[in-house]
Amino acid sequence: MSETFLADCLAVATEAALAGGKILQAHWGNLANVEEKGRSGDLVTIADKESEAAVLTILQSHFPDHEILAEESGRLGSSSSPYLWAIDPLDGTTNYAHQYPFSAVSIGLLVQGIPQVGVIFDPFHHELFAGATGLGATVSHPPFDGASQKPLAVSSTSALPNSLLVTGFAYDRRETLDNNYAEFCYLTHLTQGVRRAGAAAIDLAYVACGRLDGYWERGLSPWDLAAGVVLVREAGGVVTAYDQSPLDLATGRILATNGHIHTPLSQALADVEAYRAAFPDVRDFVIAR
Ligand code: IPD
Ligand code: CA
Ligand code: CA
Repeated sequence: MSETFLADCLAVATEAALAGGKILQAHWGNLANVEEKGRSGDLVTIADKESEAAVLTILQSHFPDHEILAEESGRLGSSSSPYLWAIDPLDGTTNYAHQYPFSAVSIGLLVQGIPQVGVIFDPFHHELFAGATGLGATVSHPPFDGASQKPLAVSSTSALPNSLLVTGFAYDRRETLDNNYAEFCYLTHLTQGVRRAGAAAIDLAYVACGRLDGYWERGLSPWDLAAGVVLVREAGGVVTAYDQSPLDLATGRILATNGHIHTPLSQALADVEAYRAAFPDVRDFVIAR
């Protein structure tokens, strides 16, 4: 795949993410109606829907033959295409609905199932994170004309006790014991802290730019992850499954780090798994460790 093609995709994804972000800004603080879509706490607003429509219009006008997987519209276009756009028009809807300014538009391109282009736009901090395989990853600020682009690089933190991590809790957390609560407690114990920011795309962008040293989460969808995976890898980080096997977006599980803490973090997640049976109550588990 040529770098020119990826650069073209990156430019179009950037245009689409900026258009979606404008819509998020326009509806900010002004939502007449917030609906739940199935699971308790899984919200959708007019901003999700309009942002997605704006992103789709731009992507489909440039790439009518590509397939699309968009959070609110599902699968669109030709299923025989090697190109699949994974779109989250508003990552961090719960934050957005509460006017907690931590949400983004996330657009990733998978080529034959592998994330190759990623753009994450956080309109509330005016940060545009963008990257493509072999082209590097950058962060830029208004007017987003390229002049303000700075390369992204992961942190150099080399030990878990010195690290700052982030994770999240999926909407099925009340229905499963595999809810990430034990992992959260254990890693809070082992590190300088674990943040729970509520927007998976921004979590990954922050690992890519070195503000956070590592991220793990379960119960995610391809649109939460596709763009951020590209950014972390292009910034020099490592992205895999929890056990360090190759990432499979369909599992909804991800481990993304600066590389230096990848093995210890993977080991800590495996330790929790092993102890979960013996210490079903998370408080006993943490005290015993
Ligand atoms: C959610 C956020 C959150 C993560 C959830 C996601 P949404 O996406 O990324 O951080 O913990 O699992 O579903 O619903 O706000 O687009
Ligand atoms: Ca999301
Ligand atoms: Ca969303």
